[in-house]
Amino acid sequence: MVDPPLSDATVLITGGAGFIGSRLAHALVSDNEVTILDDFSNGEAGRVPGEATVVEGDIRDRESIAETIRGADVVFHQAALVSVAESIEDPLESHGRNATGTLTLLEAARDHDARVVLASSAAIYGRPARIPVSEDDPKAPTSPYGLEKLTADHYARLYNELYGLETIALRYFNVYGSGQPANDYSGVVSVFVDRACDDDPLTIFGDGKQTRDFVHVDDVVRANLRAATADRAGEAYNVGTGTRVTIAELAESIIDVTDADSELVYDDPREGDVRHSEADITKARTELGYEPAVSLEAGLRMLAENGGTRR
Ligand code: UD1
Repeated sequence: MVDPPLSDATVLITGGAGFIGSRLAHALVSDNEVTILDDFSNGEAGRVPGEATVVEGDIRDRESIAETIRGADVVFHQAALVSVAESIEDPLESHGRNATGTLTLLEAARDHDARVVLASSAAIYGRPARIPVSEDDPKAPTSPYGLEKLTADHYARLYNELYGLETIALRYFNVYGSGQPANDYSGVVSVFVDRACDDDPLTIFGDGKQTRDFVHVDDVVRANLRAATADRAGEAYNVGTGTRVTIAELAESIIDVTDADSELVYDDPREGDVRHSEADITKARTELGYEPAVSLEAGLRMLAENGGTRR
């Protein structure tokens, strides 16, 4: 991990007890005043660094935001309902957290003139017109989740244009790494690694030829730190690696690094699933100085050595 370029700042991390937010909190806490707002629907208190101030509250609740944003120089907005499948099951709930929650936060940031770095998503592109996809390519989300993130991403730009608020949207591709939950709504890497560690079968939805750009959480943290101090505002950046693998290849690699006896089982394709995804990271490289440092092979090996994402 590089030294955080942000120091002596007052920072709010929404979703700071979650997978990405808590890693960000650890990277920032020694040099900054860190407050975390999390409703613990998915977050875990054990992941939060002891030095951070933790407030339990909902991202849609204006009072909780007002209480935690006071004095903040930078807000890292990570709170979200992250599952595409869950957004299809309950779009109203998902919209509330991902779209209305972001708008509520942007309003508070406007009152307090805090810079906002927000977690957007590759899901906003839907079926990309070309691969690798770059920031100005058409957006055609295939799930409520993708549409909500597109709304949040667009609001961030609009708040910059209308109110001069400093916002940066980071469009995460498929983030993985230790600390990611491994349940029905989690990312495929954590599900596969945990199952492989127990020699259980890995279920592939569809033909397994769909592709994803898997980016390690440490690289995502680095991108956030860069965005916090970048001399840019109202911009959006892809945060991936610029490479992609099929889900079947991913499963094979995970079986390989964990030395598992797991079988591959094929099931129906998942509704709303994007077929191919790969980031063009030229803009983040050029404007943020972002450079992914963890290869998928190295990242999977780290997970396997730790015995899965839970441990
Ligand atoms: C993920 C993120 C989403 C992010 C997006 C950006 C999670 C839970 N979701 O969505 O927040 O914005 O990337 O690209 O991290 N699969 C299987 N078997 C399984 C689980 C999944 O075959 O047991 C397949 C899925 O059908 C899909 C692929 O693996 O094709 C990736 O699925 P998943 O990890 O859930 O992520 P995305 O839907 O890409």
